[in-house]
Amino acid sequence: MAETTDTAKLTIKGKTYDLPVYSPTAGPDVLDIRKLYAQADVFTYDPGFTSTAACDSTITFIDGDKGELLHRGYPIDQLASQSHYLEVCYLLLYGELPSAAELEKFESLVTNHTMIHEQMHNFFRGFRRDAHPMATMVGVVGAMSAFYHDSTDINDEHQREVASIRLIAKMPTIAAMAYKYSIGQPFVYPRNDLDYAANFLHMCFAVPAEQYNVNPILARAMDRIFTLHADHEQNASTSTVRLASSSGANPFACIAAGIACLWGPAHGGANQACLEMLKEIGTPDRIPEFIARAKDKNDPYRLMGFGHRVYKNFDPRATVMKQSADEVLDLMGVENNPILQVAKELERQALADPYFAEKKLFPNVDFYSGIILEAMGFPTSMFTPVFALARTVGWISQWKEQLADPQLKIGRPRQLYLGSTPRDYVDIENR
Ligand code: CMC
Repeated sequence: MAETTDTAKLTIKGKTYDLPVYSPTAGPDVLDIRKLYAQADVFTYDPGFTSTAACDSTITFIDGDKGELLHRGYPIDQLASQSHYLEVCYLLLYGELPSAAELEKFESLVTNHTMIHEQMHNFFRGFRRDAHPMATMVGVVGAMSAFYHDSTDINDEHQREVASIRLIAKMPTIAAMAYKYSIGQPFVYPRNDLDYAANFLHMCFAVPAEQYNVNPILARAMDRIFTLHADHEQNASTSTVRLASSSGANPFACIAAGIACLWGPAHGGANQACLEMLKEIGTPDRIPEFIARAKDKNDPYRLMGFGHRVYKNFDPRATVMKQSADEVLDLMGVENNPILQVAKELERQALADPYFAEKKLFPNVDFYSGIILEAMGFPTSMFTPVFALARTVGWISQWKEQLADPQLKIGRPRQLYLGSTPRDYVDIENR
């Protein structure tokens, strides 16, 4: 817990209360209101947590005004260009970059847990073929608690560690199986001679009937997409994982809750929604029509892949993603991809529009990722599962951090009640 660096004074009905102020290593000061209800009999009101820190953390930091994202202090653009996903996983989980020996051990540990319990194949087969892969993932990951009983005791540090490695190792297998099931193809077992990203591409695109060689350029691009999604501070799905875990729920149930939250179009589901929007726009001449809809107060329509609760300048992940989209399409010999042209022109027109400038709305990570994923051969329904598998390490790192916190309490928000005061029950014939 941070040291108190100052005291804020709050006066309510003539009585003044002292609130401790903490100065974090980065970011705005934080007022400690934990004793406010006991002392002053008031709650604070902050739907959507726009001004509320729900925990302290040392994992990820975002400066929304500067467009800065740090994992354990390291800028995301450096990690995306110089590191790779499993090294970033190690950094998020354990706090420091690994030595060569530590990384080798970690990679081998993850690689040796990539297979799932054979009986889980039957579990997959219980779903309809046309189920969205995210629906399948929520179910299968939640069901891991029924298959891995030896890593559900959250009070056992060893079991927590085993669960963490299992989740990181098996998530690509589960996502790939959800995909294969949805297209009616046989499951492809993991190949431990391939690296994390290449193995995922192999499980998604190989078929038993013929040899499939993973394109190393695509594997590198896949790895970068994983890295860019690895963690993102106290976003909705991470907060969901923390809230679920605060009751003592097992890790697989908590991560399934995170996947469920991520699915929504305001969060991870935006990558699918964004590509569908770009396709619906189709050609640059239709862009003004869609911008006008997004600006219309009477129309709930929003530009998908635009805007962010925290970033108010630019999303540094979007900058790397845009470069990656250019590189991948270029390397694949896709010239003048019409959807990429629509995306770039939409970005240009929206950024030049006072509505988006005043509200500080910029492309976010989901704006360009779908273009790359589609170029790789993924259908839109697989975009959010890719996000989920990449974010798993972030959820787990935050989950582990929370469980190690001696101040852990069950999450239990209060409310501003506006309903009826007590009234007498009325028999049905008298209503
Ligand atoms: N298009 C048009 N107007 C927008 C958009 C948008 N994409 N985003 C926000 N606004 C407007 C909104 O109407 C509001 O206007 P007003 O003040 O006049 O009512 C203002 O900007 C502030 O919006 P908000 O909804 O209060 O902001 P928020 O911080 O609660 O929401 C957001 C952030 C990401 C949910 C929102 O920007 C959004 O819905 N974007 C589209 C979905 C999207 O791309 N989500 C991915 C986010 S990044 C990856 C991830 O989290 O998974």
